[in-house]
Amino acid sequence: MAGRRGGCGGSDFRGSPTTIAIGAGIFFGCVFAFLFPNGLFAFPSAARRANMSVRSLQISSTACESPEKISVLKSKVATFSEKNAELKKQVRELSMKIQLSEQGKDQAQKQFLTLGLQRKAGPFGTVKGLRTNPTVLPDESVNPRLSEILEKVALQKELIVALANSNVREMLEVWFENIKRVGIPNYLVVALDDGTESLCKAKDVPVYRRPPADNVDSIGRTGGNHAVSALKFQILREFLQLGYSVLLSDIDIVYLQNPFDHLHRDSDVESMSDGHNNTTAYGYNDVFDEPSMGWARYAHTMRIWVYNSGFFYIRATLAAIELLDRVAYRLSNEPMSWDQAVFNEELFFPSRPGYDGLHAAKRTMDIYLFMNSKMLFKTVRKDAQLQKLKPVIIHVNYHPDKLQRMKAIVEFYVNGKQNALERFPDGSQ
Ligand SMILES: *[C@@H]1O[C@H](CO)[C@@H](O)[C@H](O)[C@H]1NC(C)=O
Ligand SMILES: *[C@@H]1O[C@H](CO)[C@@H](O)[C@H](O)[C@H]1NC(C)=O
Repeated sequence: MAGRRGGCGGSDFRGSPTTIAIGAGIFFGCVFAFLFPNGLFAFPSAARRANMSVRSLQISSTACESPEKISVLKSKVATFSEKNAELKKQVRELSMKIQLSEQGKDQAQKQFLTLGLQRKAGPFGTVKGLRTNPTVLPDESVNPRLSEILEKVALQKELIVALANSNVREMLEVWFENIKRVGIPNYLVVALDDGTESLCKAKDVPVYRRPPADNVDSIGRTGGNHAVSALKFQILREFLQLGYSVLLSDIDIVYLQNPFDHLHRDSDVESMSDGHNNTTAYGYNDVFDEPSMGWARYAHTMRIWVYNSGFFYIRATLAAIELLDRVAYRLSNEPMSWDQAVFNEELFFPSRPGYDGLHAAKRTMDIYLFMNSKMLFKTVRKDAQLQKLKPVIIHVNYHPDKLQRMKAIVEFYVNGKQNALERFPDGSQ
């Protein structure tokens, strides 16, 4: 447990930028050493020679040197100092790049870059902590082929992404038919087999066929069967590294409006909830009672129903990528773990002895707009007022008869068939 963070955040992706940064640091240290002391030693070869010849020139000009020669030499000196300035500028830019690549290593530097200038707090009620991290610098080299696809598919650097194989073929069709009907252009199916790829191509659905897992990433390669559930988080990482924010979507979801019109984009992770009412979805004070403690019998605890790891918007930030890495690492190294539980633990558990918690901002989506199927079948469909709401999406996460319920949801919300939801029990039977 204690070694978790080290293992996850360790050598794999930290080694190379650090090595580069150190190497580059030594190199530019040398360049600086030459450039700055009085400017005199700037170019031991050319520039200094030019300066010296100007000086000797000035002396000898009193001794009748030709004025043409002097002006030629003067212009040479000017050219050299221009080049010098240009080089200094390049050095400054490069040292800034080094600084940026160091931010993964140096926590204080990272926070400084994130928070910007130090400032005074200001009066009561006007203070807001930062919750919106800056997005990462896109790195196309991670996956040029995917990068090309995303340039065409994404809108404002964001898109819906779903993983699918042939087992969910019929649900996938309901999924993209509704996305098309709503008119959402920026979505992509990551096809895990040939059948899914050809279905998407036939239906004019944007598709990306991913190369076999071990061509891309080393995390999870050793995890055997279980590594498969880590795949989703590894794939997502590439999208974020390429600079795109992703609305990850399971297939058992019906789209009724464009979700991008209803996001807040102020957090690293914005997720739909498994909660079934305001209390459970948004968090509450759950009092634990232990009568034998007498005066102190009540212990207060905090509870919140988990975030649904099948529908969340994740911004292309360092904190978000760290979350993906942590989850992928644990899923491929803890055989009994469940991806949704791990996702929530990494997101919510604070630092403690032997463990550094994630510093990611999170937001719970509106449970009436991003609705789970327990909300719909237990509450909303039975309430005349709530029935009139138009959700953005409905996720049939709580029920195994997914396809039938998805079709019924379309009948109810799209085709206005008032009794379409009635035949289903609240839960499964
Ligand atoms: C939400 O559900 C919980 C558990 O079923 C219940 O205890 C609580 O009272 C409910 N809250 C509201 C606002 O209905
Ligand atoms: C839940 O909260 C929303 C506002 O966030 C409010 O409009 C609604 O009435 C609440 N529902 C219940 C059952 O308390």
